[in-house]
Amino acid sequence: MAVKTVLRMGHPVLKKIAEPVTEFNTSELNGLIQDMFDTMAAMDGAGLAAPQIGVSRRVVIFSVVDNPRYPDAEAVPETILINPQIEYVGDEKQTDWEGCLSIPGMRGLVPRYKEIIYRGQDQKGDFFERHVEGFHARVVQHEVDHLDGLLYPQRIEDMQYFGFVDELNGHEN
Ligand code: NI
Repeated sequence: MAVKTVLRMGHPVLKKIAEPVTEFNTSELNGLIQDMFDTMAAMDGAGLAAPQIGVSRRVVIFSVVDNPRYPDAEAVPETILINPQIEYVGDEKQTDWEGCLSIPGMRGLVPRYKEIIYRGQDQKGDFFERHVEGFHARVVQHEVDHLDGLLYPQRIEDMQYFGFVDELNGHEN
């Protein structure tokens, strides 16, 4: 398939509520998912949501295995998650750095729920759920936000901790 252009913050598609997927095993859906994997791999992303390549559908993918952009992150299995729902387990949040392919070159400190159960459908439409915490839970919350028109800067509580990666790395502390 193809590596697509990733839309950047400010593009109207990134602000929309994405539509649920209702038909599975279609060439349209399978092509979309392949394009998403091709694009994520080309940009060393940890995850990607369909709206980021201009398709306003409730589809996200993620995978973190030896990712040069996240060298210290715990592994997250390669996953296709369609029509996701998130249930928060407890109310504890953790704050950590996030980046986004739609906001290149920047990072911010974002609070996320530490522990979640997420449910959704796979590429064939079969339902599944996982109970996860930590970085895995963070990645899912970040990607699902994309389906609701939210980007991580909207979750930052102290904008002092939002900036360009090279500046943050050069001067931190
Ligand atoms: Ni993102």
